[in-house]
Amino acid sequence: MAGSSPGLHGRKWWRSSATRVLAGVATVAATAAVLVTAPGADAAAGTLGAAAAQSGRYFGTAIAAGKLGDSAYTTIAAREFTMVTPENEMKPDATEPNQNQFTFSAGDQVYNWAVGHGAKVRGHTLAWHSQQPGWMQSMSGSALRSAMINHIQKVMAHYQGKLAYWDVVNEAFNEDGSRRASNLQGTGNDWIEVAFKTARAADSSTKLCYNDYNIDNWNYAKTQGVYTMVRDFKSRGVPIDCVGLQGHFTGGSSVPSSLQTTISSFAALGVDVALTEVDVTNAAPSQYAALTQACMNVARCVGITVWGVRDSDSWRSGESPLLFDGNGTKKAAYDSVLNVLNSGGTTTTPTTPTNPTTTPTTPTTPGGGGCTATLSAGQSWSDRYNLNVSVSGAGAWTVTMTVPSPARISATWNVNATWPSSQVLVATPNGNGNNWGVTIQHNGNRTWPGVSCSTS
Ligand code: G3I
Repeated sequence: MAGSSPGLHGRKWWRSSATRVLAGVATVAATAAVLVTAPGADAAAGTLGAAAAQSGRYFGTAIAAGKLGDSAYTTIAAREFTMVTPENEMKPDATEPNQNQFTFSAGDQVYNWAVGHGAKVRGHTLAWHSQQPGWMQSMSGSALRSAMINHIQKVMAHYQGKLAYWDVVNEAFNEDGSRRASNLQGTGNDWIEVAFKTARAADSSTKLCYNDYNIDNWNYAKTQGVYTMVRDFKSRGVPIDCVGLQGHFTGGSSVPSSLQTTISSFAALGVDVALTEVDVTNAAPSQYAALTQACMNVARCVGITVWGVRDSDSWRSGESPLLFDGNGTKKAAYDSVLNVLNSGGTTTTPTTPTNPTTTPTTPTTPGGGGCTATLSAGQSWSDRYNLNVSVSGAGAWTVTMTVPSPARISATWNVNATWPSSQVLVATPNGNGNNWGVTIQHNGNRTWPGVSCSTS
């Protein structure tokens, strides 16, 4: 392991709360009244996913299909996480148990559960020396190369257009920065770039990632080996969109003080970076805070995934490395992560100076004596933007928000939400005040949503 000392980072981070104001449109209800001015501070979000969404990030977990019948497990997972990685269900031994016979039942189970609870999915993993089905383990040379290509094509075709990220290649390096010996490596040093090119051709809608452990410490040979490969791929146009630092700070490893440097160095190559499988020995709150802050400090660090829900779900349960104990109770590390997420951080660089680019129609005059929902711009990215919502005039309110197609509301924070459709959100108080927010994937239409507010 790449052990090194834990440490926090002194670099300053900032919180952008856009001040530009404007309004939405009242589209419904007689009691509706809408917006016009700037609101104030954001309220702290009460879940990991909602807190991360405020800076455009996700907070994810590994989910095991076999645990989806455990309501304690699913209750926490549904509430807290906005990205799901199937822990084992999309690995080669699960999806292609016999050559060219594909089985997606377990993978689909995790996928369907995730999207049914508003989370996105990270596919894990297509080409790996481990968890190969028996028939693949005994293959080599051109037959294995063809089998790898076929596997990537068929599995990606099944999930075409559905996954946010795919770990195309997993754990292909040794600790000294050289390539790991494996049957895949034996097919030729170009096997990784062939895997990525095959993946891009199979599904151009998903981001293609290289994922590995012990690449968190910038001053470590393995980190440099992976960095050199990614730099080479970017320089030659090999399609790679993201790098996953697994972040297993267990088994004697700890969060290195250089983690932020590692994240920002990969990001500077033009790839998304994520912490993809985080766990920490005894869930030390300071280390969880440090790794979260390192991600928050780098604009292109898109999210953090912990490798399981409760300690009892962990592959290293003996180290109690997760954010919930075996009873599903939040641990001190949970609070430390939530606090850092709520403190804000740099975000992906806005590609438009202000948001939205299209202003809404004239706000409807407040009327009916009900309540007023005021919208203001939050942070903005090339593909999405945040809006802050402040409700006044009533303690018990219902806000209906409608975005114009093909825009979609993709996340909320600090509010109870139901979703009549991906374009319509019905929001009610969650008991934590009247300031809340949404993330909207604009899909080319940046017109602000219409909102109505009614007392209830
Ligand atoms: O499902 C069988 C079960 O039927 C059988 O009775 C039992 C007996 O051992 O094994 C069960 O399968 C186990 C599986 O997890 C599901 O629990 C496998 O033996 C076991 O090897 C497998 O371990 C997984 C490990 O990857 C395999 O490499 C862990 O759950 C999973 O958390 C772990 O995840 C990896 C990432 O994919 C890559 N990075 C490292 C990370 C941690 O090792």
